Amino acid sequence: MINTVKRNQQQSLDHLDDVWLFGYGSLIFKVDFPFLERRPASIMGWARRFWQGSHDHRGTPDQPGRVVTLIEQAGCQCQGMAYRVTPDTFAHLDHREKNGYLRFFAPLTFTDAPDHAPAEALVYVAGPDNAAFLGPAPIEVMARQIATSEGPSGRNSDYLLNLDDALKTMGAEDTHVSELANAVKALL
Ligand code: BEZ
Repeated sequence: MINTVKRNQQQSLDHLDDVWLFGYGSLIFKVDFPFLERRPASIMGWARRFWQGSHDHRGTPDQPGRVVTLIEQAGCQCQGMAYRVTPDTFAHLDHREKNGYLRFFAPLTFTDAPDHAPAEALVYVAGPDNAAFLGPAPIEVMARQIATSEGPSGRNSDYLLNLDDALKTMGAEDTHVSELANAVKALL
């Protein structure tokens, strides 16, 4: 639920043995952190959008790329992957995702057990108030930006196409992502 999402960036997690982390972007296809368990999951009230600028991973300050963030949207469901991790994992991830993203707790539903009580999971969100936020643009404009951007973590198009493939493999295709992926493939 949108209103139950709580800001948690400063709160220490050290008193917890483990924490669920919800991944909806690179955390789905670039799993460079240890985890105790992994399960497909979704969160309600949020839409995945390529609206966040990336000048440190998939672009440069002169030519920022576009990566995903979550936008509050009533009735929307965002499907992704939940990882049960130990709190020390966030030292690595907070550094990896430092460009405008903050962590929040949000309720999550496991796709493989939708009847179970929701769990609380940490999720990284880059809000419209962060300096790198780009917001919406026509699909052809976003596609051209993604097709031509590259940064220290690689090509922006690889980020998009890897995410699109991973979501389809999970049976969780996202039309915003697949339409953009098709538009970028047509340009490459
Ligand atoms: C994710 O895959 O959940 C993610 C997306 C953007 C920043 C950090 C994490």
